[in-house]
Amino acid sequence: MKTPMELKVKPIKNGTVIDHINANKALKVLKILGLPSPETGLTLAMNVQSSQMKSKDIVKIEGRELASREVDEIALISPQATINIIRDYKIIDKGKVNLLKEIKNILTCSNPNCITNTDEPVKSRFIVLNNEPLTLRCHYCERIMDQDDVETQFKLF
Ligand SMILES: Nc1ncnc2c1ncn2[C@@H]1O[C@H](COP(=O)(O)OP(=O)(O)OP(=O)(O)O)[C@@H](O)[C@H]1O
Ligand SMILES: [Mg+2]
Ligand SMILES: [Zn+2]
Repeated sequence: MKTPMELKVKPIKNGTVIDHINANKALKVLKILGLPSPETGLTLAMNVQSSQMKSKDIVKIEGRELASREVDEIALISPQATINIIRDYKIIDKGKVNLLKEIKNILTCSNPNCITNTDEPVKSRFIVLNNEPLTLRCHYCERIMDQDDVETQFKLF
């Protein structure tokens, strides 16, 4: 059943609905997408009830589809998120984010001495050891990063 919160928000004509975001993580998704321009309609719903999750967040953006890098970043925050493409008020495509086996050039290694944090032109690269809870290992220095280490890299404020 739709929650009253969801019923209250006005439908979008064209754009994207990011659904099943982990509870309270919508602001990190907003950090990934960038703050909207004044003409972009943006709706955030936080901590709404869901049949599939105890509680979830939803982000709706008018007039915009997501770049693949943005989808890869959202997967790090919410591996269960679904991406609904809206055209003329209807969902024309529904997909799930997909956490890649290797995360390249998105995250910063938390080891200050890692080669990726020096002047060398080496881009960051992490192996995904576990999806939930997220555990990554730096390809270069073997530093382990967990969900919190990753999430602090997507702080809006
Ligand atoms: N035109 C629209 N404008 C804004 N939000 C929309 C629009 N159409 C659908 N949505 C939202 O998109 C999400 C997915 O809608 P859908 O009708 O597929 O729900 P569902 O059956 O619960 O899907 P799922 O199985 O993915 O949970 C919901 O959060 C819904 O409120
Ligand atoms: Mg649903
Ligand atoms: Zn490293």
